[in-house]
Amino acid sequence: MKNLMRLATKSLVWLWQEIRKYKVASSVVISFALVFLVVSILIGMPPIGYIVLTTFIACPTLLYVYKNKNKSTTNTRLLLVFFAATVGTLIVIQAIPYGKNHTNPPINGEPAWSSPRTREIMVRACFGCHSNEVEYPSYASVAPISWVVQSHIDEGRSKVNYQEWNVNQRGAHDTIEVIQNGSMPPSFYTTFGRHPEAKLTKSEVAELIAGLQATPGFNEGDH
Ligand code: HEC
Repeated sequence: MKNLMRLATKSLVWLWQEIRKYKVASSVVISFALVFLVVSILIGMPPIGYIVLTTFIACPTLLYVYKNKNKSTTNTRLLLVFFAATVGTLIVIQAIPYGKNHTNPPINGEPAWSSPRTREIMVRACFGCHSNEVEYPSYASVAPISWVVQSHIDEGRSKVNYQEWNVNQRGAHDTIEVIQNGSMPPSFYTTFGRHPEAKLTKSEVAELIAGLQATPGFNEGDH
C-alpha cells in the first residue's frame, strides 16, 4: 500500500514536470480534454465511455513521453502522437460490439391508453428509450455515440418499459411524477437540437398527465 502511494506520488510529480516542459502541447491536450468532458456530460456519456477513451488515448501518449524522457522531444511531435492516438482510438473502438445491435425485442403488451392522443405524446417523448420500438438514429452506429445511446436505452428499459406491459412495471407509478417535475425526457435527449418532437409544451404536458391519470397502471394503488 505504502509502495503504491509512493509510486502514485512519483508518477504525478513526473507528469507535472512533463506538463511544464511541454507547455504548448499540454495546453492543447488539456483544452481538448475539457471540451470532451463538457460535451460528454451534456450528452450523458456512461462512465465506461470516459474510462475506455481516456485509457486508450493516454497510454500510447504517456508511453511516448516516458520513452523520450532523456532525449527531450518537441511540442509538435508530442501533439502528433496525441492526435494519432486519438484517431487510432476512434478507429479501434468501432470494433467493440456494444451498441451495434439495433434490433428491438418483441412488443409484449401496452397499457390500455385512455386515448390515442395519450399514446401519441408518450411515443414522441418517451418511446425513444422506454419501449421496444426504439428508432436508432444513424449516428447511433458510431462509437462512442453508440454507447451513449445504448446505455440510455438499456437503463431506461430496465426502469420502465411501456411495451412490456405483460409483466409488472414498477417504474410506471413514477411516470406522472417524472413528467410533472420535468426530469423526463432527460435533458441530454434534446441537447444540440436533437429530438425536437420530445420537447413537450406546457399544454401537452397537462394533456399527457390527464391522459395518464385516466389510464390504468399509472396511479399509486394501481397494479
Ligand atoms: C434518452 C432516453 C430516455 C427518454 C427519451 C426518456 N427516459 Fe425515462 N429514463 C431514462 C433513463 C436512462 C432512466 C434511468 C436513470 C434516471 O432515473 O435518470 C430513466 C428513468 C425513468 C423512470 C424511473 C424514474 C425513477 O425514479 O426510478 C421513469 C418513470 C421514466 N424514466 C419515465 C419516462 C417518461 C414518462 C418519459 C417521457 C416523457 C421518459 N422517461 C423519457 C431514459 C429516458
